[in-house]
Amino acid sequence: MSKKKPLVVVTRKLPAVVETRMRELFDAQLNIDDTPMSQAALVEAVKTADVLVPTVTDKIDAGIIAQAGDQLRLIANFGNGVDNIDVASAVQRGITVTNTPGVLTNDTADMTIALILAVARRISEGARVITDDEWSGWSPTWMLGRRITGKRLGIVGMGRIGQAVARRAAAFGLSIHYHNRRRVEARTEEALNATYWDSLDQMLARMDIVSINCPHTPATYHLLSARRLKLMKPDAILVNTARGEIVDETALSRMLEAGELAGAGLDVFEHEPAVNPRLLKLARSHKVVVLPHMGSATHEGRADMGEKVIVNIKTFMDGHKPPDRVLPSML
Ligand code: 8YV
Repeated sequence: MSKKKPLVVVTRKLPAVVETRMRELFDAQLNIDDTPMSQAALVEAVKTADVLVPTVTDKIDAGIIAQAGDQLRLIANFGNGVDNIDVASAVQRGITVTNTPGVLTNDTADMTIALILAVARRISEGARVITDDEWSGWSPTWMLGRRITGKRLGIVGMGRIGQAVARRAAAFGLSIHYHNRRRVEARTEEALNATYWDSLDQMLARMDIVSINCPHTPATYHLLSARRLKLMKPDAILVNTARGEIVDETALSRMLEAGELAGAGLDVFEHEPAVNPRLLKLARSHKVVVLPHMGSATHEGRADMGEKVIVNIKTFMDGHKPPDRVLPSML
């Protein structure tokens, strides 16, 4: 007799290739019209599912986990960051949590560089001049941005994505500096030609561009606080492709409004999909470039993320340790 397939509830629409494979392998409950699930719908899901596949838009908090049925054994997140899941509560209830590291590294690093260039070289502002039919012609002193070659880039969080940003930035002639919980291995530092700053404060005060590439955890919430933002040079640029919660958006807005910081490129926000109205206003006046959480948004990346989710589920269901298990001690 064949084994009963696990009921896998997927909260959002995934690439067709991923959904097809899921249908073959599992009793997959898919979200065909991609409507985000309410907290009530999530409660229903955890009461019946053997495996839940959430995304960044689902808040799997302690309250939801407390209502999970005993059959829920795995939360296989479609995403690298797991700040949408109360991992400690899940693990306490014997629920395994997995994520999708590695496959979105290059795409997110590309977007980080894109934002650095967009802010420094005024790319979206220039593009808008043309689409708004406002270009009256070239001038030697018009639309001048900042050269990035020869400038100092400070990377906050030197994990996979931080390192991928460093590799790309070196090709643009930026000097690489970083702050991380733990200093990376000497050979990695050497390969990246990266300077380690034990003190985030001291690094911030000396950088021309700061890129946030660390995960959002209780320890990194508002890591870029009002006090720390004030340490940055007034002509510096801040780029965030990690999580909105890592930066105090109100303090950032205030500084940009006052001209105490030159610009910012933000792919993530504290209360997505809402964007702080002050940041929006700054974006309209071209001080900030804003993107709607697109760092990993490539066809290839999203298919790879789905494949990772499938491997994690399959391995777990076959009775093995899934490759991308997340433990509270890692956060
Ligand atoms: C994803 C991300 O789009 O993986 C992450 O941590 O931030 C994004 O690139 C999103 O999280 C998918 O759930």
